[in-house]
Amino acid sequence: ECVPSICDAVTRTLDGVDLRRLAEQVPTPFYAYSVQAIRTRIASLQNAFRGLDVRICYAVKANSNLAILQLIAQHGVGADIVSHGEMQRSLKAGIPAERIVFSGVGKTADEIDTALVAGVWRFNVESADELHLLQRVAQSRGVCARAAVRINPDVDARTHAKISTGKAENKFGVSIDEARRWFAESASLDHVQLDGLHAHIGSQILDLEPFRTALQRVEAFRRELVEAGHPVASVDIGGGLGVVYRRGIDTPVDIADYASLVRETFAGFKGTLAVEPGRWLVAEAGVLVTRAIRVKQGADRHFLVVDAAMNDLLRPSLYEAWHEIVPLHGRDEANVAYDVVGPVCETGDTFAQRRVMPRCEAGDVLMIEGAGAYGASMGSTYNSRPLPPEVLLDDGRYAIIRRRQTLAEMMAGEQFPQAWHDT
Ligand code: LLP
Repeated sequence: ECVPSICDAVTRTLDGVDLRRLAEQVPTPFYAYSVQAIRTRIASLQNAFRGLDVRICYAVKANSNLAILQLIAQHGVGADIVSHGEMQRSLKAGIPAERIVFSGVGKTADEIDTALVAGVWRFNVESADELHLLQRVAQSRGVCARAAVRINPDVDARTHAKISTGKAENKFGVSIDEARRWFAESASLDHVQLDGLHAHIGSQILDLEPFRTALQRVEAFRRELVEAGHPVASVDIGGGLGVVYRRGIDTPVDIADYASLVRETFAGFKGTLAVEPGRWLVAEAGVLVTRAIRVKQGADRHFLVVDAAMNDLLRPSLYEAWHEIVPLHGRDEANVAYDVVGPVCETGDTFAQRRVMPRCEAGDVLMIEGAGAYGASMGSTYNSRPLPPEVLLDDGRYAIIRRRQTLAEMMAGEQFPQAWHDT
């Protein structure tokens, strides 16, 4: 599979756009995403599942820019949302409510109410309390909510602890024992149609086995439910497919193997499947373009200080995640081991340590790869750094899909105390 996810090393182009020239027109740091790369991923997934009744619901949290969501919508892909905000974005970008699933352990009554009124496809329910809240809210609206139980299959996804969600000790989902009780009592919930199963065991999973174990547990439970007289209309198998962050080291699951696993495991299932990939669709389509501010000589290290920072791309600081960093200067330089750091006043504001790359100097443009997922969407204004621009690249042309936040916008909403109120 030839995904132009990584910028062409010779021409330094991504989706036909010269990133160095782009950096002369759009001040760094900025995110750039390849339309072509995202389209390719969507098509591969749709192809792999051809013939199956499966709904792809993109995990909006991975990259929630409206233009990305619009691109997703144009290909008939739905959304997996976890907040009212993600629902509004999805609807605004043209994703129909009937293609939206609502996940998350902390759905509030207001969020449930808004989603019911909008008519989302189903709620992935994560606790008994939420199930009863769903019943109450649906009752007060005089409607019936479609619901799936999020099963915690107690599987080790063998990924980073902070993005592992399918172990019994994680806050997500409920045990199969608890889910069994929900179905047994489901008749008493007359405003909830509990007829779906859901499981999501973690993210950046590079191995098929945890998926196999989890899906087999879900399918065994589904059969048990059917035998007990509880028809299951949908099974949502979550997201989690990993991508290449470290070239030559990360070996993602082959999408055809994943699809075969799904076909085999659910061969006896006649309902609708759903899948919620986030990262796999967008991570490798995006880069963070940054410029070297200076090189600083430490006692025993060379610091390459760039104008992007942990507020723009948090993954290296938060997860010690590896992202390839590629200088685009095109000069023939000897290799140097750099600590690539941002300007934020935290030691954790480090993109890489002792990373070997061609020598750089102030003003050089670099790209940080694998930044299309959980990059911009996890950004903040820490150190009062405005949110960076996002740029869409398509066949040699570019479009700004988010302009840099102005300082006024960054401070909007803040005010000096105008009046003091007693509670
Ligand atoms: N479905 C549910 C219920 C989820 O919680 C998630 C991600 C997904 C789908 C999509 O997972 P994906 O296909 O993207 O692996 N910020 C972290 C990743 C957190 C993922 C949270 N849940 C990171 O940067 O690695």
